[in-house]
Amino acid sequence: MAKDHVQIFDTTLRDGEQVPGCKLNTEQKLIIAERLDLLGVDIIEAGFPVSSPGDFKSVEAIAKLVKNATVCGLTRAVENDIKVASEALKYAVRPRIHTGIGTSDSHIKFKFNSNRDAIIERAVAAVKYAKGFVEDVEFYAEDAGRTDNEYLARVCEAVIKAGATVLNIPDTTGYCLPDEYGAKIKYLKENVKGIEKAVLSCHCHNDLGLATANSIAGAINGARQIECTINGIGERAGNTSLEEVVMIMKQHPDLNIDTGVNTKLLYSTSQMVQEHMGMFVQANKAVVGSNAFAHSSGIHQDGVIKNRETYEIMDPADVGVTESAIVLTARSGRAALAYRAKNVGYELTKLELDAIYPKFLDYADTKKEVINEDIHILMEQNNIKL
Ligand code: KIV
Ligand code: ZN
Repeated sequence: MAKDHVQIFDTTLRDGEQVPGCKLNTEQKLIIAERLDLLGVDIIEAGFPVSSPGDFKSVEAIAKLVKNATVCGLTRAVENDIKVASEALKYAVRPRIHTGIGTSDSHIKFKFNSNRDAIIERAVAAVKYAKGFVEDVEFYAEDAGRTDNEYLARVCEAVIKAGATVLNIPDTTGYCLPDEYGAKIKYLKENVKGIEKAVLSCHCHNDLGLATANSIAGAINGARQIECTINGIGERAGNTSLEEVVMIMKQHPDLNIDTGVNTKLLYSTSQMVQEHMGMFVQANKAVVGSNAFAHSSGIHQDGVIKNRETYEIMDPADVGVTESAIVLTARSGRAALAYRAKNVGYELTKLELDAIYPKFLDYADTKKEVINEDIHILMEQNNIKL
């Protein structure tokens, strides 16, 4: 049975780039946009055109460059934002305007000093206005994670009627639990009239480390677009990490959902974004961290050397990593030492291995990691020849 396609909406250049210290110039944004297009994402959110002349210029340049993905620009539910976004997107092959407004009680009261009915009127007016420029209009209900479901359903129904093609349900503050977020998507699927005319989209933030889990819960419950960033960069604790959701869908065929992303480009894309943004992922970052396929304890190393699948649920080659790493430390066993020694040219007999292993441990206790040069030193000290 064919799997359902979940669209990947990449917002590295908008929600990701708004992080302090991650600012990119137009040339860098073009390099990343070109890579995202090659990676196979469905939508590239290129920026927030009204926010600055520089951002306008970048969105316009990306719109001219990108040939496959839809190019999207963010706006508030404000006519001038929408008009400016439509100008920035005018050269796009597939333009999308992403407009919206806060719908939680705290946004309505503190941000807008308004009321629920007036917010719906503004949402509808913004969508109708955007429809005057482009066919593809996505609506975001900001802070939908803390918006009560009944009111959220009313908002969704009204904007679908006004022509919205995608409904973004952001957990803006990263507050929801996976079951709660999944249930919200299910509720909307079951209770919004006209929902079959629109795609439900997950946009989750990572304040409690739940962005990926929440996005997957949304997709399991019927969302067919996930908004995410390379390396999970984004406001505060970040957004959903693109490489994580893509690999979850790939590694769990039982979910029956998939993306069009070329996973073999994930690692190099992650590296590219880290270098341009100067924002480096932690070693133990899932999928793309430097330790994601590195094994350091003796028990694990012995298993992986016998068969990779004992401790790896993904093939590193599938994400563009050449091979798993066996890291030599004082926790490594004989199998790992023999394996690494062989890789650098020493075929050890059992006797040699037994003799050198305690010396290796003494040596390793003085270092964080034993590298190839150390192996040569150890062998030389013990008269073992290449
Ligand atoms: O987190 C959020 O709510 C957003 C919207 C502007 C889509 O980024
Ligand atoms: Zn966001």
